[in-house]
Amino acid sequence: MSDVYVPPGGPPQDGPPDPRILQVVGEEGIRKLLSLHYKNLEETSIRDMFAKDMENAAQRAADFFIQILGGTPYYSQKNGPPRMRQRHLPFPITEESRQVWLDCFRQAMKDLPFPEEYRQNFDDFLESFSAWMVNRKS
Ligand code: HEM
Repeated sequence: MSDVYVPPGGPPQDGPPDPRILQVVGEEGIRKLLSLHYKNLEETSIRDMFAKDMENAAQRAADFFIQILGGTPYYSQKNGPPRMRQRHLPFPITEESRQVWLDCFRQAMKDLPFPEEYRQNFDDFLESFSAWMVNRKS
């Protein structure tokens, strides 16, 4: 992996999203949100990066989001420390594929629908965290 790219901004500095989101949306809401996101990814140019079983992948990601929103640490209980940038390194993530990924997430937020008062806060998190997942120049 000699061609790994490190975003000059470094790791995100702004912390997790607002924990009130989990209180309002609930675990089931977060699971539904990630399920919608992964369903949207099915139809994109980056689909082949993901495993065949998208629903399984969606629920691993939901475990992570519930955890960072201050809920039960399902992700670490099942998989150990998150180390997300490292876990994403085997997948060649460019700025272009990040935009496809973000579009799918934002569409899922519309369809859920995600509570309006926390939309900006959650979107800011997705922006900065996903920027740190970029690991290839092109
Ligand atoms: C806010 C940013 C992101 C978060 C919080 C996030 C979270 C996660 C989590 C929790 C997993 C499961 C890791 C595991 O245990 O194996 C995962 C897997 C993955 N993510 Fe992300 N991710 C983000 C951004 C991205 C972006 C931008 C891409 C690509 C454009 C991406 C592509 C993938 C792929 C390909 C996998 C493997 C899925 C599979 O198992 O099939 N992620 N992500």
